[in-house]
Amino acid sequence: MQNLTSNWEVSALVRQWRRDGDRIGFVPTMGNLHEGHLRLVKAAQQNTDRVVVSIYVNPTQFGQHDDLANYPRTLEKDLQKLANLKVDLVFNPSNETMYPEGNAVCSHVEVPAQLTEGLEGAHRQNHFRGVATVVTKLFNIVAPDVAVFGEKDFQQLLVVQQMVKDFNLPIEIIGEPTVREGDGLALSSRNQYLSKQERVIAPKLYEVLSEIRERILMQNMDLTDLEQAAIMQLEQHGFAPDYVAIRDVVTLAEPDNPTDLLVILAAARLGQTRLIDNLRV
Ligand code: PAJ
Repeated sequence: MQNLTSNWEVSALVRQWRRDGDRIGFVPTMGNLHEGHLRLVKAAQQNTDRVVVSIYVNPTQFGQHDDLANYPRTLEKDLQKLANLKVDLVFNPSNETMYPEGNAVCSHVEVPAQLTEGLEGAHRQNHFRGVATVVTKLFNIVAPDVAVFGEKDFQQLLVVQQMVKDFNLPIEIIGEPTVREGDGLALSSRNQYLSKQERVIAPKLYEVLSEIRERILMQNMDLTDLEQAAIMQLEQHGFAPDYVAIRDVVTLAEPDNPTDLLVILAAARLGQTRLIDNLRV
């Protein structure tokens, strides 16, 4: 496994592989890797000949109140996990490589408001602009044929798909299902911040989403009532919910007819930790 920090070296190596006829898969991450990330890597390996994983904690997607400085950085362990999977190349750039003039003066990718102003976007200002910008930069450096993202960050996946379409990027985007603990809690680097007591409560988020799903399938309740009931349930369990929203799975708009394909999305704080999850109906 090669481990490179220079964008030129990454581009040159990938170009060489492409000349050899290989198809390139790419998995962008911010490190602190868990089984959820590794599932994306395996999916990339199943679909391509060479797999590149980036590890970069992107400052432009963090808000003023998000704790960028405390984001868990575990590079050595991450490299070990990727080496075990026989990943071909890890790209681990510095901020100077990604934003040589500083990120305040960098060009940005503007993402459509309909997709980004609600849900996570409403609680994390400019988050998706930062994601779209860094993903575009990484796509240009790596130039993959296929890139794999997790459904765990459902809105992010749709933003990336939209951006690839809007900019005619010749990249196939694959979305992989969320990897969960045995009790249903979605794997996340944030789970390590839960206290023992909070860790016991945390799976309730998925339980509540699953209950809504059952009720939608039984077609016996108004969607707004279901959202409200779920928020109350989460509060009773000790969460401070940011939102529980039942949306159209393609546009994330409020569904206008009951036969639309739906996704239930939620974000809630448990103590100091903000958890997000979603479930397709
Ligand atoms: P990060 O949070 O490190 O996540 C990297 C990828 O792993 C994302 O596509 C995310 O959806 C996926 N992922 C996280 N937890 C998962 C789980 N439990 N099951 C399946 N997939 C999971 O998302 C980012 O980084 C950044 O925004 C990034 C795209 C790298 C841009 O900076």
